[in-house]
Amino acid sequence: MIPVAIVGASGYTGLELLKILIKHPEFDITYVATSSGNATVTELHPSLTGLFEAKVEVADAKEIAKHAKLAFLALPHRASMGFAKELLNLGVKVVDLSADYRLELETYEKHYCPHEDIEHLKESVYGLPEMYREEIKKSNLVANPGCYPTAAILGLLPFLDFIDESFPIFIDAKTGVSGAGKKCTENTHYISINENIFAYNPWKHRHEPEIAEKLRLKSGKTFDINFVPHLLPITRGEMIDSYMLLKEEIDPMEVLKEYYKEEEFVRIFENPVDMKSCAGTNFCDIFAKRRDKKLYINSTVDNILRGSSSQAVANANLMCGFEENLAIPTIAYVP
Ligand SMILES: NC(=O)c1ccc[n+]([C@@H]2O[C@H](COP(=O)([O-])OP(=O)(O)OC[C@H]3O[C@@H](n4cnc5c(N)ncnc54)[C@H](OP(=O)(O)O)[C@@H]3O)[C@@H](O)[C@H]2O)c1
Repeated sequence: MIPVAIVGASGYTGLELLKILIKHPEFDITYVATSSGNATVTELHPSLTGLFEAKVEVADAKEIAKHAKLAFLALPHRASMGFAKELLNLGVKVVDLSADYRLELETYEKHYCPHEDIEHLKESVYGLPEMYREEIKKSNLVANPGCYPTAAILGLLPFLDFIDESFPIFIDAKTGVSGAGKKCTENTHYISINENIFAYNPWKHRHEPEIAEKLRLKSGKTFDINFVPHLLPITRGEMIDSYMLLKEEIDPMEVLKEYYKEEEFVRIFENPVDMKSCAGTNFCDIFAKRRDKKLYINSTVDNILRGSSSQAVANANLMCGFEENLAIPTIAYVP
């Protein structure tokens, strides 16, 4: 068994990590932490009563290194790089769920804050297995992708050779409230979101440059990405609708099926997808349709699983030489 740490265990992605790792046959949770400690796991998460108990520590990199060989950092950006830097220097592998190691330096500093660990940023691998599986296997630092970028990029990847990049790509996105983390804000307050839907940060959301950068690095082409997210009155789930122009009249379903024929965690649907069918799983579900040279791509993920925690465990599996699918959830929360 490989001893692992979860830092940020009181948050939504932290809880999903606990739920997957409790049942993992090769990872043993040996260290659990938050910013303040002073609790037990079941005090933080009563739903785990009778299943798993441990003391919750105040996060400390040296202590993590004494107890674990790999750490999941389910922390806000900026907090993550403080821990990751020290952990990597102490020989601990890191899967970071924040944005701190996802982007090139210039893009990161433009959209987030000054970077405090440029040395390790250069070595980090973007943790989307369908793009970088072989690199992830060799890496000590995996930057888990953003939730929206996961669903958006997986939808767009098969079409990069066919999209006419002289026209914009419009990405309309919708997420459940857990996407915003556990802290209540005006937008996530029950009265604001109940029986409601609204756009937030149109053309300003930080996942727009992430999608653009990863598509550019993959294709060598610059795509004009226009991203508008919306908040939905549901707990989990994310849907992406992308619209673009093609250079030629391809059969999009054939392209999708061919591109993903070997991929276990991407499912291609003959009809528009829905959020619930992949909620509770690591699947990304995709449908696409063409009219003339216009292409519509429709994809869904569970934001706190494929969009974060189950993808993080799949990455850790690859980093430690296990099968990617070990302990990864596949049965959806339906009905
Ligand atoms: N939610 C999603 O759908 C989603 C999807 C993809 C990626 N992500 C990313 O994953 C990360 C975690 O997201 P989340 O939604 O789980 O957030 P969250 O619910 O707000 O939880 C954040 C966690 O970080 C801990 N924390 C904050 N600052 C800390 C510090 N300095 N030292 C130690 N622990 C600290 C908090 O502990 P305390 O309770 O002690 O404050 C809490 O456990 C974020 O970077 C987020 O952007 C989230």
